[in-house]
Amino acid sequence: MAILKIARMGHPILRQRASEVPDPSAPEVARLVDAMVETMHDADGTGLAAPQVHMPWRILVYFVDGGRAAEEDGDGEGGGEGVPLTVMVNPQVELLGEETNVGFEACLSVPGMAGPVRRHDRVRVTYRTLENEEVTLEAEGFHARVIQHEYDHLDGILYPARIEDMSQFGFVEELGKAQAAAEPEAEAQAGAADG
Ligand code: NI
Repeated sequence: MAILKIARMGHPILRQRASEVPDPSAPEVARLVDAMVETMHDADGTGLAAPQVHMPWRILVYFVDGGRAAEEDGDGEGGGEGVPLTVMVNPQVELLGEETNVGFEACLSVPGMAGPVRRHDRVRVTYRTLENEEVTLEAEGFHARVIQHEYDHLDGILYPARIEDMSQFGFVEELGKAQAAAEPEAEAQAGAADG
């Protein structure tokens, strides 16, 4: 296994549509996923998509920390649940319902920054496992946000392109200071999990 170099915003690989993986059960796919997981943990991220490590394939990995999910379940009321490490090959995301929410996102390809992004509350995803089995799951709240963020990477979209209020886009350090000044006892919400 190895820690891979993460592409940063501006690199053309982050703007292109990634390709379907012809054989999700191929050994080289498993090797890439191992390295992606290691790279995600090393960089302290919550998710990673293959194009972020310069591989133009429709593969994403993520997990949701239980504490974080409870804080940020999308509607700001808490109560979300953690999700173990999940690997999706060739995912297809369907947005469910009309309800959306705005939450801060960060990205390992846009280091040090965060901004508010509107996402659907609920999604349904169909994907292939590394055993080439088809799985369908539904997600909501912060879990649904992570999936939508990572899935965007497969279509060459970075979260800053989805920010409606650019005045709230900035460096995590500065956003944290501003929030601490506004709400002294609140931890900076701007410490949004990196995807
Ligand atoms: Ni990202």
